[in-house]
Order: sequence, then C-alpha cells, then structure tokens
Amino acid sequence: MNDEFLKNMLKEYKPVKDNLIQILNEIQEHFGYVPKEAQQAVSEYLDIPMAEIYGVITFYSRFSLKPKGKYNISVCLGTACFVKGSQKIMDRLQERLKIGVGETTKDRKIFNRRNKMCRSMWFSTSIYCKW
Ligand code: FES
Repeated sequence: MNDEFLKNMLKEYKPVKDNLIQILNEIQEHFGYVPKEAQQAVSEYLDIPMAEIYGVITFYSRFSLKPKGKYNISVCLGTACFVKGSQKIMDRLQERLKIGVGETTKDRKIFNRRNKMCRSMWFSTSIYCKW
C-alpha cells in the first residue's frame, strides 16, 4: 500500500508483535476500517502471518474489514434478545435500510451489525446505536 499515513504511522512503532492492536487501532481510526493492503503492510512490518491479523480483526468488534458508516446500529441476537424478538427488529432494519448485516448504506451514514456480546438486558431487546 503506497500510503503516506501508513508509512509514517508504522515508523512510530517498533516492529514487534505487541504493537499489533495499537497499529490496527490507528488504521481503523484513519480509514474507518482495516483495508487488505494495510493488513499486508502490517503483516510484513511485524512479520506476522496475514491469517493471524485477520483473526485479530474479526475477533474484536472495534475493527472492521469494510468501511463503517457514520452511525452504527448493533442488534443483539443472543438467546434472551432473540426470544424478545430481536431477529424481527434486525429483519425490519435491513428491509428499511436496504442493507444486510455488516453492510453500510450507500450514503455511508449507517452501518448495521449483529452484536455478539450479551449486555444482560434481560428486560428488553438490546439494540444500541453509536453516533
Ligand atoms: S442476550 Fe441480548 S443483551 Fe443479552
């Protein structure tokens, strides 16, 4: 990736594996996601396999492989929320926004995702938006 930001940012970190999360954080902040070219650059710089970097990106919900929208909507599909009807809400959101899970509206304002983490909202379905 021939990107000045990436080259300059990587120079600020020693090429050690412990810096992976912080480097990915900076990439996520700058691009709004972690592009494949940036993953490749980090892989080469830290001498970490691409599969491992992919694993970290997909493990933490903070990171995204696709550009996120300005606003993020998460819908919990855990057991308690599912019983309360969260799948119907997710289906309705997708229908109204015309996007699937992990997708962003064409105007890049809204990003829709499935929440993997239970927030123990036993009394109602857990849906949250991040502005
Ligand atoms: S199951 Fe949805 S918040 Fe716990």
